[in-house]
Amino acid sequence: MAVNGTRQFIIESGGSLSGTFQVPGDKSISHRAVMLGAIAEGGTEVSGFLEGDDAMATLAAMRALGVSIEGPHAGRLRIAGVGRHGLKPAAAALDLGNSGTSMRLFSGLLAGQRFATQLVGDQSLMRRPMRRVTEPLSQMGAMIQTAAQGTAPLSIEPAAALRGIDYSMPVASAQVKSALLLAGLYAEGRTRVTEPAVSRDHTERMLQAFGADVAVDGPHVSVTGDAPMEAAAVSVPGDISSAAFFLVGASIAGGGSITLTHVGLNPTRTGVIDILRRMGARIHVEADETDAGEPVGTLTVEPAALQGIDIPPELVPLAIDEFPTIFIAAACATGVTTLRGAEELRVKESDRIAVMAEGLTALGIEAEPLADGIRIVGGAMHGGAVQAQGDHRIAMAFAMAGLAADGAITIDGCAEVDTSFPGFVELAQGAGLRIRSQESAA
Ligand code: S3P
Repeated sequence: MAVNGTRQFIIESGGSLSGTFQVPGDKSISHRAVMLGAIAEGGTEVSGFLEGDDAMATLAAMRALGVSIEGPHAGRLRIAGVGRHGLKPAAAALDLGNSGTSMRLFSGLLAGQRFATQLVGDQSLMRRPMRRVTEPLSQMGAMIQTAAQGTAPLSIEPAAALRGIDYSMPVASAQVKSALLLAGLYAEGRTRVTEPAVSRDHTERMLQAFGADVAVDGPHVSVTGDAPMEAAAVSVPGDISSAAFFLVGASIAGGGSITLTHVGLNPTRTGVIDILRRMGARIHVEADETDAGEPVGTLTVEPAALQGIDIPPELVPLAIDEFPTIFIAAACATGVTTLRGAEELRVKESDRIAVMAEGLTALGIEAEPLADGIRIVGGAMHGGAVQAQGDHRIAMAFAMAGLAADGAITIDGCAEVDTSFPGFVELAQGAGLRIRSQESAA
């Protein structure tokens, strides 16, 4: 799919990981902190904010909607909340870059405003499916249009009034759930969303922290716009999706152990730990105090002999962003790993099943793409050239493969790593990965 940048990673074989590190702030929580802080009453202080391109796109969009935000200064923001009805029309279309979360959550938040907005993004985002949010929002009375293919640009016109609906989601998607809950803050009556499987619940937790009228009852989440939303302090933990690269890297490297501090351990996000442990990974979890409604802890990882497994389908939504790096673990395991029920991976920042299968094959690993997953036969990984296709998580996953390969790996299309993990190369180098980054010919 999109290849916006021309950055290339080169990883020499023979590295190993060791030391104690903290990964940057959680991307999902950073987006939500800006959005809820902006529509709350009063000043919201955020710490640990992810200064990556995606969360910065949300921040810039909120500024364009008239919200004054100080920072980020070393992960700190001060958001001057304007209240639920205080947003102002933006002078131009909001450009959300590579960020699907920004576009889907803003669709819900802006559907109930009294002004029009246009949402656009980069090549990758302009290809991603948006009807999953626009259809239920239209049922609520929103005036929201996609392009003919169901993709952005999204055009939102002011609606007479939104009404709460009872909506059963066909796919487990925290972005869809969150879009509807945010629209529900502007709707008459109660908006109730039912999930087919558990997806990340950061929106529910943060709505509670800001005092919204939100109720969770098993797979049902509902909200009204009745309760005032008050500013709250948000402390963003380290992103487990960023930690995941190091969990796999330390597991497959020949020696050393690493400790990752202050990682978010929300149980709707820890599927990667469960899957890697089922494969034989040695990951020790030490829970700390819950921080502003989100569990956090310290993870220690030692090298381990991994085994292939059939990944339980119920863990798929709990590890949805971690499959590129889990596939690298599978390539380094003894035996076969099979993933099914994960067709969502085909509509992420790239088609993660196709792009990962191609890259693994280029490194000498047998990888068979399936319509809804992949079958990987663990084996000897060789050096070679792979394409990340502008997908940040694929670039970082193949970077970790360099710890197990018998030759150098060159990865093209790595510029988007900055969307979720600014400083990845420096942190990985400090931990012992023999990585360097260079601008390549387009
Ligand atoms: C996210 C939800 C997930 C995930 C994405 C972030 C969120 O997407 O893949 O990276 O912050 O709500 P889906 O809801 O489409 O599964």
